[in-house]
Amino acid sequence: MPIDYLRRSFLLGIGAAGVLSVFPSRTVFAQSGGVLSLTAQPTKLDLLDGQGPITDVWAYNKTIPGPEIRVKQNELLSTVFKNNLPQPSTVHWHGVRLPNAMDGVPGLTQDPVLPNQSYTYAFRPPDAGTYWYHPHVKSSEQVGRGLYGALIVEELDPPKVDRDITWVLDDWRLDETGAVQDNFSNMHDMSHGGRLGNVATLNGYDSKTFEVRAGERVRLRLINAANARGFALSFTGHTPEVIALDGQPIEPFSPINGRVALGSGQRADLIIDMSGKPGDRFAVDDDYFSGQPYRFLDLVYSEEMPLRSSPLNAAIRLPANPLSTVEPSQAETIDVRISGGAMGRMKSANFRGVDTGIRDLVKVGKVWAINGKVYDPANTSPMFILAQGKTYRMRLSNDTAWPHPIHLHGHVFKITARNGAKAEREIWTDTVLLAPDEQVETIFVADNPGDWLLHCHILEHHEAGMGAVVRVV
Ligand code: C2O
Ligand code: CU
Repeated sequence: MPIDYLRRSFLLGIGAAGVLSVFPSRTVFAQSGGVLSLTAQPTKLDLLDGQGPITDVWAYNKTIPGPEIRVKQNELLSTVFKNNLPQPSTVHWHGVRLPNAMDGVPGLTQDPVLPNQSYTYAFRPPDAGTYWYHPHVKSSEQVGRGLYGALIVEELDPPKVDRDITWVLDDWRLDETGAVQDNFSNMHDMSHGGRLGNVATLNGYDSKTFEVRAGERVRLRLINAANARGFALSFTGHTPEVIALDGQPIEPFSPINGRVALGSGQRADLIIDMSGKPGDRFAVDDDYFSGQPYRFLDLVYSEEMPLRSSPLNAAIRLPANPLSTVEPSQAETIDVRISGGAMGRMKSANFRGVDTGIRDLVKVGKVWAINGKVYDPANTSPMFILAQGKTYRMRLSNDTAWPHPIHLHGHVFKITARNGAKAEREIWTDTVLLAPDEQVETIFVADNPGDWLLHCHILEHHEAGMGAVVRVV
């Protein structure tokens, strides 16, 4: 899936291949009271799917994505993380409402895990759904080199499907030799849209096709693991039903034109009935960036006879997760105003206690602020102190020229309005995508004690100052 507008010479001509990719099977870790070992290390992988050079990457257990971890809701997940990277790391379990000490944020919830050291994470995920894990140290580089994996928390009674499949989406910035370009955290990426790549991958491969069977019902779990890129996949010829966003169940709906958009860090669970005929072929396009669409891959129907003649007649609605009930009448409002970036209006911001002009901020690699304050990982004192059990309305305003997927750790929140218009459906989420100049109102119960990060999931934006600490006591 070369991305056309950034296509590199060595990638030209790859797009036309008609062969079916055979996906090497991934290690799927089915938790059964055992302990998972997760080792981050440099390795070599064939991201270009046999059609280009091998790439030096960093990976968990030598695969990209790392092992798909599957655990039943509320079951104990124990992971021994071993750091065999040349730099410190941690594991963050994105979207899981876990105890603060397991959240994997260095300097906030734990010390970084140094090279050759280990750290044990153990928690019981309270919510079923689609989550993922990734480092929270030098994330732009570590995620950008390939460190991420899916964490699937299974419902005790999941909807009936023929296949339950995970698509971890990513993009890579490769040079002509197939190597990952090491210009991480450069000021251009940090001040603009983040590190966008030139090759898109599905589960670690630049795959052109994905095989399906006529008549089957698939639960497709999409995870956007890219540093910065949004994906908006359109499933031509199909009618996907969205049953969960960011792990949280939603009243099933079919999105307009079968298009599912995900900012960095976000997930969607879809139910797709494969309504084509044996031998059919349908495009899945990504048009997140308008004017720059490209073919993500083709769904290719096998020649096998249809699995059934009419769609499976089974409920697709997911059981609710045990979220706290919001008390709107008692809610207190907190404001989160985002400013900065290229073409922005921010002239100065508070950095390390000093009001600093934008030119001086740029010199120290900072260019974004929340409520006028640049996030400093060396000083994690909280911007917001919330009372445990209380309901808060969090109003986010994007006072910048860029979209931002804003992620809150340890909690989920409900989107109540966008630009003053009441939300059309009930969405609980851990990451909300704000368009330029957009305002989003949310509501949630601060029910998980500890210090939690609130930050942009465009990893370069976070690094350049777009973050804050929320303390729940
Ligand atoms: Cu996906 Cu703060 O992280
Ligand atoms: Cu951002």
